[in-house]
Amino acid sequence: MDIAAIIAKAENTHKLAKQEIVALLADDAHTQEIFAAADRVRRRYVGDEVHLRGLIEFSNTCRQNCHYCGLRRDNTNVVRYRMEPDAIIDLARKAKEYGYRTVVLQSGEDPYYTVDILRHIISEIKKLGVAVTLSIGEKSRDEYAAYRQAGADRYLLRIETTDRLLYEDLDPGMSFENRLRCLRDLRSLGYELGTGCLIGLPGQTLESLADDILFFQEIDADMIGVGPFIPNPDTPLAAAAGGAFTSSLKVMAIIRLLLPDINIPATTAMETLDKNGRMIALQSGANVVMPNVTEGDYRRHYALYPGKICVGDTPAQCRSCITGKITAIGRGISTGHGFRLRKTAQENGE
Ligand code: SAM
Ligand code: SF4
Ligand code: FES
Repeated sequence: MDIAAIIAKAENTHKLAKQEIVALLADDAHTQEIFAAADRVRRRYVGDEVHLRGLIEFSNTCRQNCHYCGLRRDNTNVVRYRMEPDAIIDLARKAKEYGYRTVVLQSGEDPYYTVDILRHIISEIKKLGVAVTLSIGEKSRDEYAAYRQAGADRYLLRIETTDRLLYEDLDPGMSFENRLRCLRDLRSLGYELGTGCLIGLPGQTLESLADDILFFQEIDADMIGVGPFIPNPDTPLAAAAGGAFTSSLKVMAIIRLLLPDINIPATTAMETLDKNGRMIALQSGANVVMPNVTEGDYRRHYALYPGKICVGDTPAQCRSCITGKITAIGRGISTGHGFRLRKTAQENGE
């Protein structure tokens, strides 16, 4: 296939067939062209500003047992913690003081936080005037509705992989159907919907990654976060090969080409594999960074995978570090809430 023609088609029409996506993923000779095209589409559709989201990792306790994740319930090498509601609200207040306009509340699937507790946390944080994103796993429709009513704006729930068999193999006790049900419920309840996948899972193929990308387009996700799978020695996938930086970046760049107006984070896992990973991602299609605002030892204990960045840094250090890096690549920091602004190709003058 003519790779240059596929890149041009993606850049101009934002539509590709599965075999064309597979061809891009399989090709090693045109990666820089793919990144450059994604960077142009990013600039045309979402501009040069980078949205910062302050990430609070409020509990590393999890009832699930995902094979790839260090927080899985069978991992006894993790020091488990739960932050009290007041401490979480307090961190959100500090996040606002650091200038973040969105707070992301992330945790394992931890039943300690009942609907009432979460409603309280969300409504108190909303009083600060920030947008609230939740990333707390699979819940019932009623629970999602209650959080939304309390003021939550967005929800991040990665599909992880659209290969149903691989998903159910790697996420024992979880069903692919229920994952889809969650995404549908979140969408119909009016959340901005974030999802994404892991790259480099054992048994994952290029065809399967192409299916993931087409799935994101089909459900019209508002945010897509992708990153390499990084093997954790305390999990059943300790000996797996894991994902590579360049292939993760390539998946991300193709997502920008096909979903031109969405928000795409330069993920922490990317920087774990390359010390400049997030800035390279921002120059290859991404427009969001999620600096950590979790304090003290909690950062270290939120150990999804080894080598996670910023574990020894404070929220203030991360804030000034990220500002410096973004400014150094000639980009600005957004002062808005960073919701998706839908734009068609026509509206964009294409
Ligand atoms: N428990 C919630 C969930 O699973 O949706 C939110 C927290 S979970 C730790 C957030 C994300 O971490 C998952 O969606 C998964 O993609 C990612 N993750 C887990 N283990 C990982 C690993 N070993 N390498 C890279 N990312 C990983
Ligand atoms: Fe729990 Fe999420 Fe990790 Fe799965 S990925 S074990 S649900 S924290
Ligand atoms: Fe945490 Fe750079 S973003 S130290």
